[in-house]
Amino acid sequence: MTANILITRRDGLVELRFDRPEKKNALTTAMYAALADAMTAAAADPTVRVILFSGSGGSFCAGNDLNDFLANPPNSEDAPVFRFLRALAQAEAILVAAVSGPAVGVGTTMLLHCDMVIAGESAKFALPFVNLGLVPEAASSLLLPRLVGQQRAAKLLLLGEAFDARAAKDLGLVGEVVADADLTKTAEALVGKLLAKAPQALRLTKQLMKGTTATVGERMAEECRVFAPRLDSAEFKEAVSAFFDKRPPDFSPKPTK
Ligand code: COA
Repeated sequence: MTANILITRRDGLVELRFDRPEKKNALTTAMYAALADAMTAAAADPTVRVILFSGSGGSFCAGNDLNDFLANPPNSEDAPVFRFLRALAQAEAILVAAVSGPAVGVGTTMLLHCDMVIAGESAKFALPFVNLGLVPEAASSLLLPRLVGQQRAAKLLLLGEAFDARAAKDLGLVGEVVADADLTKTAEALVGKLLAKAPQALRLTKQLMKGTTATVGERMAEECRVFAPRLDSAEFKEAVSAFFDKRPPDFSPKPTK
C-alpha cells in the first residue's frame, strides 16, 4: 500500500483502489502522487492492458481533500494532481471504473477519461466546483458538454447538484448500473472479458475512439491556469470553512469601507 492507494497487479490488470474510507476516499497530494506514479509505471509496461479504479468502504472518491487543497495548493502543471490527470488522459490501457457511494469533483470528472464505468445503485455523483468558488478540471469543461450537450453540462457544472446512478447512466457517464452487492463481480467479469481480447487491437481501437488527445491536454492546461489562483480566493476559503462548519456558504458581497 502506498499513501492510501492500494495497488494490485495481476495478469494484465492493475487495480488502483482509493483507500481512505474514513474521509470517503478524498484525495490528498500524496495519493495523487501515488496514482500518477502507478499510472506512469503502467504506461511503461506493455503487458498492462486494463487499469481498474475502485474505492474502499462503499465510497468511490469525495474529490480533492479540501484541507489539503488549502495546505498544499497545486500551483504548477507538475503538481501530482495534474500529473495524474494527464496520465489518465494519455493512458493507452483500457480504463475501467467501479463506482459506489460518493463520486464528487475529480471522483466524477476522472470518469470522463474512463472507457467503461460501472456504477452500484448507491453511486452519487456531483461536480460542485462553482459551489466551492472553483472551476472544473480534468478537461471536464470540454468533455462534459461534448458527452451530454451544452444545456445538461451547464446544469451539472453551474449548479453542482448531486445526481444518482440512473441519471448518470441516462447522461452516458456510466455504462451499466448494478446492485451494490454485484459491483465487484460485475467489474471483474468485465475486466476478464477485456483481458481475453487481442491486446494490440484493444489498444488501437481505444486510440481510434479517443482521437487526438492534444485538445484535451490543452484544455487541462488552461483549466489549471484558472484553477490554481481560485484556491487562494476568498470564495474558496469561505466554501471550505462552510463545509467543515456544516453550514451553507455566504457568498453575499461584503460592504467595502
Ligand atoms: N475533503 C476533506 N474531508 C472530507 C472530504 C473532502 N473532500 N469529503 C469528506 N470529508 C470528510 C468529512 O469532513 C468527514 O470527516 P470527519 O468524520 O472528520 O467529520 C468525513 O470525511 C466523512 O464525510 P461526511 O461529510 O460526514 O460524509 P457524508 O456521507 O455525509 O457525505 C460527501 C459524503 C462526499 C457527500 C460529503 O463529505 C462531501 O460533500 N464532501 C466534500 C466533497 C467536495 O466538495 N469535494 C471537493 C470537490 S473539488
